[in-house]
Amino acid sequence: MNYNKNISAESPIGVFDSGLGGLSIWKEINQLLPNENTIYLADSKNAPYGEKSKQEIIDFSIKNTEYLLNKGCKMIVVACNTATTNAIKVLRKNYSIPFIGIEPAIKPAALQTKTNKIGVLATKGTLSSELFISTSEQFRASKDIIEVEGKGLVSLIEAGEIEATKPLLEEFLKPLINEGVDCVVLGCSHYPFLIPIIQSILPQEIKIIDSGEAVAKQTKNILEQNQLLNSIASSKNVFYTNGNLSLMKRFLNQININSDAVFYEHF
Ligand code: DGL
Repeated sequence: MNYNKNISAESPIGVFDSGLGGLSIWKEINQLLPNENTIYLADSKNAPYGEKSKQEIIDFSIKNTEYLLNKGCKMIVVACNTATTNAIKVLRKNYSIPFIGIEPAIKPAALQTKTNKIGVLATKGTLSSELFISTSEQFRASKDIIEVEGKGLVSLIEAGEIEATKPLLEEFLKPLINEGVDCVVLGCSHYPFLIPIIQSILPQEIKIIDSGEAVAKQTKNILEQNQLLNSIASSKNVFYTNGNLSLMKRFLNQININSDAVFYEHF
């Protein structure tokens, strides 16, 4: 489908996630590209995507994309590892605007590790995806990549129960510490909201690696290449959720956004 007709540099960047986690990515984009208008969509009603089938994840991703395209977005950031690894190929095939995805940052971890052991914490949907399996395969000859499914974490975050993730995180991170990893890749955009708790569990020498900054840089590159960077300083940011509105406001406060532009909509 060709939506290019009416878009310009001033059109918003669309960002979606299965819920509030992608706000960690939105924040990086907003910091690097403060002029850009944005529309964020949290499909919290359908979270967690990580427990759904590939086809369901594709269907949700198409629905989210259509929603953002109908609001005139010039580009879409799939701020969800599970949606990227399962659906971005289909999205790129179906729509003519640029898509930026997020994947577990195995390459940066592979470049930094001294012990040659890397931990990856991600959802079942990401860890079982073809894209993740083929990407991680490229590094397995020289690195041990130890995967852990963060089962239950996204649901707790979506319920605003951040502190309640601690016992689960202890259970998930212990085997990684025991295996001697020196990097832990956060392979889900919800997990940056858990960094203070993760830091309290991991020994200081273990690095926590996430992909937010890389996604923001890639967003900038692709906008530049397509001559779609907004040069007018008039940034308007709108946030939609089909979940809990006040919880979304709480998360926005946490990333220092005091936004009134928060809406509830069924999608
Ligand atoms: N933020 C999504 C991700 O990056 C969470 C997936 C889920 O909803 O399970 O994978």
